[in-house]
Amino acid sequence: MRISVLGAGNMGGALIGGILSAGAAKPEEVWATSRTPERAADLASKFGIQATAGENASAARDAEIIVLAVKPGNVPKVVREIRDSLDETQILISLAAALPISIIEDAAACQLPVFRAMPNIPVVAGEGAIGICHNRIARPEHREIVERIFRAVGVAVWVDEDQMDAVTALSGSGPAYIYMVIEAMMAAGVKMGLSREVSLRLSEQTVLGAAKHAKESTLHPAILRDQVITPGGTTIAAIHELERHGLRSMLISAIETATHHAGRRTAALLEEIKRHES
Ligand SMILES: NC(=O)c1ccc[n+]([C@@H]2O[C@H](COP(=O)([O-])OP(=O)(O)OC[C@H]3O[C@@H](n4cnc5c(N)ncnc54)[C@H](OP(=O)(O)O)[C@@H]3O)[C@@H](O)[C@H]2O)c1
Repeated sequence: MRISVLGAGNMGGALIGGILSAGAAKPEEVWATSRTPERAADLASKFGIQATAGENASAARDAEIIVLAVKPGNVPKVVREIRDSLDETQILISLAAALPISIIEDAAACQLPVFRAMPNIPVVAGEGAIGICHNRIARPEHREIVERIFRAVGVAVWVDEDQMDAVTALSGSGPAYIYMVIEAMMAAGVKMGLSREVSLRLSEQTVLGAAKHAKESTLHPAILRDQVITPGGTTIAAIHELERHGLRSMLISAIETATHHAGRRTAALLEEIKRHES
């Protein structure tokens, strides 16, 4: 299997790292491109893969899977650049936030399976959360190949394209919310006299352990929370404070706002693409 990742920056690089360390592809099966020779040299030395500055069309030719990992506004241009290298047997995967599949189909001018995936940055640790949708041409065998790639770097779920804004707001941006939780818990530990190091290790592990427990359990998170509470105890005293400050309501509002923002981002992106093309 040959995978070409066009525009291997933060996310493309994280995906390559995850795929290689999971053994889903060998270094000689991966070709990455970047804009600058410096980034290409970094990628080649870090992963032992073929990496070039530009040369998107050569990288796309004969690749079974082509991952579009450039910034969303650059995607149509890069797809037009590789258009003559594409055929119906290849699979195109776009990681671009807010960019509809139809824009990629128009630029490709070729009837091939197109997938749109929204990964998040923990793919770098093999623990990404990835929402994926696809066009009408994609068949179950294509889905299987794409799912295998993303399963190598985390948990993949299938959604409809009109749900991608919610996926972006929930899990695409989600790591930022959780890093804030870790940061705040660490600060609280420091305020209460723990060392920074101890406080950070306990905060990180608490988030990781709670997530793992919730994932492995069949119980609703509210039941798991209740199991930690002793009547009249410490946890319920803290939960009362969290409720008073509206933790759950705050998160619901934040994700609702981010979903609407993602929708507006699509409209702005389409405008930007139209402007560049006229
Ligand atoms: N970061 C995230 O958490 C995240 C999450 C979900 C989805 N995404 C999506 O992933 C995509 C990439 O985001 P990112 O954060 O990884 O951005 P990034 O770090 O800026 O990566 C973009 C890469 O594209 C390269 N590039 C630019 N023009 C190119 C061209 N014409 N041909 C080949 N390569 C080119 C750049 O090369 P140089 O480095 O040489 O400039 C850079 O390495 C975006 O579409 C974004 O919506 C990102």
